[in-house]
Formats: sequence, structure tokens, C-alpha cells
Amino acid sequence: MKLGVFDSGVGGLSVLKSLLQTNFFEEYIYYGDTARVPYGVKDKDTIVKFSLEALEFFNQKQVDMLIIACNTVSAYALEILRANAKFPILGVIEAGVLATTNTLNDKNSKILVIATKATINSHQYKQRLSQEGYLAVEERATGLFVPMVEEGIFQGDFLNSAFKYYFDDLTYIPDALILACTHFPLISKSLQQYFGKQTRLIHSGEAIALQLKKEYNLKEKYHNPKVSFFASSDEEKLKNIAKIWLY
Ligand code: DGL
Repeated sequence: MKLGVFDSGVGGLSVLKSLLQTNFFEEYIYYGDTARVPYGVKDKDTIVKFSLEALEFFNQKQVDMLIIACNTVSAYALEILRANAKFPILGVIEAGVLATTNTLNDKNSKILVIATKATINSHQYKQRLSQEGYLAVEERATGLFVPMVEEGIFQGDFLNSAFKYYFDDLTYIPDALILACTHFPLISKSLQQYFGKQTRLIHSGEAIALQLKKEYNLKEKYHNPKVSFFASSDEEKLKNIAKIWLY
């Protein structure tokens, strides 16, 4: 099985990391559209257009399955990608919702979703969670975390100021915090410290690994998979970041 993993840039490496831990796939093809990142500030038509172009890339690589690591793409382009592909495509939103409902038994639990502006404006998480009976869901766009993570800022005063900026007015402690953006797992330690132990963090990568385990009959037999990295610009930079983030 050859698995494709698509993201708007380097952030999807956080999802790839979780996928690698499953030992489900023999080969991985990661593609980041680094020339055009960020997607999270763009409009739907642009996100769909870029995503369909990325699909062409994965068609050429002849993958057997594609994981959309990017929440923004999962929010806007999943259906059209599925309609145009010959292989199964999984997005991270369905997986994130599944992981959240598995984690929280109480439907009155307070859930905070943080993501890019585009993902938040799609209201995909809120809608899907409400279909599952979870109504206490708040969504907040916290786009500044994306460039901060890309700068390698995973902790410290600057990040804490951003937490204060985005969360100071919260009047409750969330039971779950959905990290609905590829970059946010890299600041999960700091977020956990900020919110405290009571808040469960939901990570897209872990969620998709869980969904694959639950819904597909995959064997944990590939301990030495082949992993190839491709980018629409500066592939070397992506490879260098992969060395730091993945291993
Ligand atoms: N990969 C994007 C996401 O998960 C974050 C970066 C971007 O805005 O493109 O939504």
C-alpha cells in the first residue's frame, strides 16, 4: 500500500508522524504546496483549485489512498477531491470529530476548536459535532500560531502572549481542545500547560490513525517504510524540517 499525504505546506508532517507510528503502510508520498502556503487565509475557490492540482500529483504517483492532512483543505475540498479520484481519500475533520466523540462521553462537554480562519468559517467541526449531539462547541480562528510554529516558536513568552491574546476572555475551561490545524500539535505542550490537565487535546494525526485502525482492516507490518518528500518550492527545506519534526 502506497499512501499519499497532502498538506498546504510543512505542517502536515505532524500528521505524517502519527501515520508512521501505525506501521500500516509500506510507502509514503508526502506533498506540501510550500509555494502557495498558507491556504487558511484563502477563499474556497482558490483552496479547491490548488487541491485539485495536488490531486494530479498524487494520480501521477499512483497512490492507493490519500490522507488530506490539512484541515483547511478537508473543510472545503474533500468532496470534490473524492469525486475526482480513483482511490479513497480521508480528511482530518471526520477523524477529529470521531476522536472527540470517543474521548468525551458527556454530550454537555465544552469543546473549543482552534484553526485557521478558513476552517473556522466553514463551521465544519461545529456542524458535525452538533449532529453527534455536542452543542457546547466554540470555534476560534488562531491563525497567528501558524507562522509562529514555522518560525520554530513552540514555547516561551511570545507564544504565551498569543495565548493571552486569543484566550484571555474565555470564561470556562474547555473539556476538549481540538487542534484543527496541522501546525498546532507542535505547540501542544504549551497549550496543555496553558489550559491545564482538565482539557483533553485532540490531535488530527492521532485522530486519523485511530480512524484507520477502526475502519480499515490494515495490518501493522511495515516497520521500515519508504518515505519520499515533495514540495512545490524549496523541497530541501521541507526535507530538513522533516528530519527535525519526524524523528
Ligand atoms: N495546513 C493548514 C491547516 O491545517 C495550516 C496552514 C495553512 O494555512 O495553509 O489548516
